[in-house]
Amino acid sequence: MKHIMIGGVLEASEMALGCMRDCRIPFEDAEKLTLTAYEEGITFFDHADVYGFGASEEYFGRILERNPGLRNHIQLQSKCALIRDTEKTLAIDTSKEHIIESVENSLKRLKTDYLDTFLLHRADTLIEPEEVAEAFDILHSSGKVRYFGVSNFKTMDLMFLQSCLNQRLIINQMQLSVAHTELIDPTASIQLNEIDNVDRNGGVLTYMRMNKITAQAWSPFQVRFYGGVFMNDDGYPRLNAAVNRMAEEKGVSPSAIAIAWILRHPAKIQPLIGTTNKERLKDICTASGVELSRLEWYELYSATLYDEGRAQIGNSNPKPAK
Ligand SMILES: NC(=O)c1ccc[n+]([C@@H]2O[C@H](COP(=O)([O-])OP(=O)(O)OC[C@H]3O[C@@H](n4cnc5c(N)ncnc54)[C@H](OP(=O)(O)O)[C@@H]3O)[C@@H](O)[C@H]2O)c1
Repeated sequence: MKHIMIGGVLEASEMALGCMRDCRIPFEDAEKLTLTAYEEGITFFDHADVYGFGASEEYFGRILERNPGLRNHIQLQSKCALIRDTEKTLAIDTSKEHIIESVENSLKRLKTDYLDTFLLHRADTLIEPEEVAEAFDILHSSGKVRYFGVSNFKTMDLMFLQSCLNQRLIINQMQLSVAHTELIDPTASIQLNEIDNVDRNGGVLTYMRMNKITAQAWSPFQVRFYGGVFMNDDGYPRLNAAVNRMAEEKGVSPSAIAIAWILRHPAKIQPLIGTTNKERLKDICTASGVELSRLEWYELYSATLYDEGRAQIGNSNPKPAK
C-alpha cells in the first residue's frame, strides 16, 4: 500500500481503517479485522470516544495488549466533542476540561500513552478557541497528542480556530464518497445545475490544499447521511453501470473502484474504510493499485450528478457549421 504525508508531517498508509462499527462484531473478529488491515498495509486507525460509547476503543486497547509491538508500527487517531445525552439531543462540547478528560479516557481505553492525531469531531457554535488552544498545548507538551485536527469543519470555522491556536491543524475529516460529493462540488460548480450550484462548505477542500491540511473521507461508500452503500442502490443506475464497467475492465471489484476514485484526487485524500468484514477489506485494499484516468474520474462524478438530478444539462460547445 502506498503512503502519504498527512499534513505534510506524518507518514501513514494512503487508506485508513475506521473503527466506528468494530464494537458491533465479536472481539475475536475485530482483532482479525485489525490484523488483516495491518497485513494489507494499513497503518492508520480512526477512533472516537463516542464509537460504541467507548466500546470500539476498548476493543482496540485489548488488541494492542494481545499484540505487543503493534503500537510502534501504526498511527492512532481519536476524536471528541459529541455528547449524546438522549436519543434526540446532540450537544457539542469543545471546552478545555472536556477535551483533556476525553483524551485521557481514550488513552486508558486504547491502552496507549499517546495519540498520533486527535480531532475535534464537529464544529461547535459555542466554541471558545482560546480554551481549545490551552487544551491542545497541554496535551502536546505532556506528550499525549502529537498532532491535531478537526472533522466536519467549514472553511471559516477552520480559519477561525487555527488563528487562535499554537498547534497546527493538519487534518479535516469530512464525508466523501463517489455518491456523496459535497466536498468537491464547489470546485466543479459549472457541472452543476443552477439550483445545486451552491457552495455549502466555503470551498473547504481548496483551502485545505492551500494549507497542507489533509482531508480524510468518512463513509466512503455511503449515500447521504448513513443512507447505505451506493452499490446496487436503484437511485444510482448510471453510477453503478460505470463503476461495474470499470471494475470489469480493470479486474477489480466495484468497491475498489469507489475507493480508487477518492485516491485519484490530487489532494491525497485518505479514505476511512468502515467495513467489519475482513474479506471485503482485503478486496477494498486492492484500490491502492488502481489508476483512474481523468476521463474515468469525471465519468464517475458526472454519473452521480446525473443520477441525483444535479447535472448541468446542455451543450455549451456548439457543433461547427457545415
Ligand atoms: N467524522 C465523522 O463525523 C464520521 C462519521 C462517520 C464515520 N466516520 C469514520 O469513517 C469510518 C467509515 O465510516 P462508515 O463505516 O460509514 O463507512 P463505509 O465504509 O462507507 O461503510 C461501511 C458499511 O457499509 C457496509 N457495506 C455493505 N456493502 C459494502 C461493500 N460492498 N463495500 C463496503 N462496505 C459495505 C459495511 O458492512 P460490513 O461491515 O458487513 O462490510 C459497513 O456496515 C468510520 O469507521 C469512522 O472512523 C467519521
